Amino acid sequence: MANTALDFKHRYLAGAAGAPTLLLLHGTGGDENDLLGLGQTLLPGAGLLSPRGKVMEGASPRFFRRLAAGVFDLEDLRLRTDELAEFITSGAGQYGFDPARVIAVGYSNGANIAASLLLRHPGALSAAVLLHAMTPFVPETPPALDGTPVLITAGRVDPMVPAANVEQLARILNDSGADVSLRWSPGGHGLTEAEVDAATQWLAAL
Ligand code: MLT
Repeated sequence: MANTALDFKHRYLAGAAGAPTLLLLHGTGGDENDLLGLGQTLLPGAGLLSPRGKVMEGASPRFFRRLAAGVFDLEDLRLRTDELAEFITSGAGQYGFDPARVIAVGYSNGANIAASLLLRHPGALSAAVLLHAMTPFVPETPPALDGTPVLITAGRVDPMVPAANVEQLARILNDSGADVSLRWSPGGHGLTEAEVDAATQWLAAL
């Protein structure tokens, strides 16, 4: 069966006139409803576009396949990233939001595909908040991210994401011209209130 871009199960909540759209990307085991409240907190008035990852790991939806914890199926990641880029374009056509003002907010697996989107489709996002992301892949040549603002939040003792891997992601994005802010917290993989506050302030200042 042919895949059309809007065949992602998703939620869309229209924003205030002229407001950007947050592309909400959940973690493994989440769904399209998970991050709606977070999106409303992070940028009140923004439109919210929230797809459910299409890959099932047991009963847990994800945005791309992995071979083991932290080991990604790069071919699947490539295809799923391209599908997500198309989903943004189709969503803009269907719902009438501005595709040039889409800010990704991803957590964990969702942050990883958001990072992959930045690296494979540098024009698809106007900014990104990567909550507990890791390096999805190392691009052969740096994409042109020309000042795209990116906030990465990470936990110093995250058992899923080694600090060196986060630093590598920040370096790759930085070398690609993104305007990267990296914010460490003392904790692990879970999202903290302080982190949400920091992301809210960062988004308000864009
Ligand atoms: C991933 O597979 O994307 C990362 O290991 C994060 C996770 O989903 O657990």
